[in-house]
Amino acid sequence: MTIVINMRKGPAERGLGVAARLIRNGKLVAFPTETVYGLGANALDGAAARRIFEAKGRPADNPLIAHIVEIEWLEELAREIPETAWKLAEKFWPGPLTIVLPARETVPRVTTGGLDTVAVRMPAHPIALGLIRMSGVPVAAPSANISGKPSPTDAEHVIDDFYGRIECIIDGGPTPVGVESTVIDLTGEKPLLLRPGGLPLEEIEKVVGKVEIHPAVRGEVVDVAKAPGMKYRHYAPSAKVIVVEGTEEAVGKKINELIEEFRRNGLKVGVMAMGEHEADAFFYLGKTSEEAARNLFRALRELDRTGVDVIIAQGVEEKGLGLAVMNRLRKAAGFKIVRA
Ligand code: TXA
Ligand code: MG
Repeated sequence: MTIVINMRKGPAERGLGVAARLIRNGKLVAFPTETVYGLGANALDGAAARRIFEAKGRPADNPLIAHIVEIEWLEELAREIPETAWKLAEKFWPGPLTIVLPARETVPRVTTGGLDTVAVRMPAHPIALGLIRMSGVPVAAPSANISGKPSPTDAEHVIDDFYGRIECIIDGGPTPVGVESTVIDLTGEKPLLLRPGGLPLEEIEKVVGKVEIHPAVRGEVVDVAKAPGMKYRHYAPSAKVIVVEGTEEAVGKKINELIEEFRRNGLKVGVMAMGEHEADAFFYLGKTSEEAARNLFRALRELDRTGVDVIIAQGVEEKGLGLAVMNRLRKAAGFKIVRA
């Protein structure tokens, strides 16, 4: 049975108490964060964490993020904490930044996907923070979607994927950022970006200087051991996804050409773009990369639901949140890009 708790008007003490008790008892609770919904369990309980992998159909070697509510909790999870980690945490937590550090032995290797490192973040959402505080334990939470599907940015997406399969879903309405957290590995000599996300890289570089970018971020798979999440197909709806990149004018023209071509071949076409297009289904992404980030996963889910055969997505400039948006789009497209 799944309890759905409505907190669209904000965190509610009694509901949080119920959900926190479930977490302490090794159960699964989906909850909103500022990025996407998370599928939470006690990060320090290996059996509970294992249930997350089962529910999502997630490969056991793809590690989870431990969510905390006080900066000091970092010391209970990480063995060595460099100065850069404290600096980033103080500046950007709570917020969409995940830091990878050497793990303490008390962190179950189920949670870390078998690695000796642990990913930690403090989410900027009152419901998430309230839940973690009342649980009294770090909460392991991947995005609350079936593995491979677009991440959930609203409770209805979580209900679609998990109703009847987990103990509790907290409905906090749509998530404000819309893409997952930025993941930075601080275990090497230089900070390494493993996943672009809700905190722009430019902001991080203002604090720690130049950050290296893992080649998998742009689709080149080299050392998958360090970025286990990178090797799996992601964010992919059932429809085939094509990303069109180029200058705004050229992209608009190219999208129209593609729509015509696919339709001539008897295919139903969906479009998600920052300009208007006539297609079988259309989703407006917004004007800025922030809006595109907020709408991205909903667009993929909703266009897919209309039963189109192909989804054409307009690329955005890789600045600010644009880097995260393009990373998700390219993954959804299996790195099949059309240049206009
Ligand atoms: O915004 C977010 O980060 C959301 C919300 C719920 O907080 N969570 C999320 O979790 O996106 P998930 O599991 O979907 O993505 C976690 C990413 C994966 O790419 C995973 O491989 C990486 O973080 N990761 C976790 N632990 C790691 C570690 N020890 N070393 C390297 N990468 C790690
Ligand atoms: Mg995910």
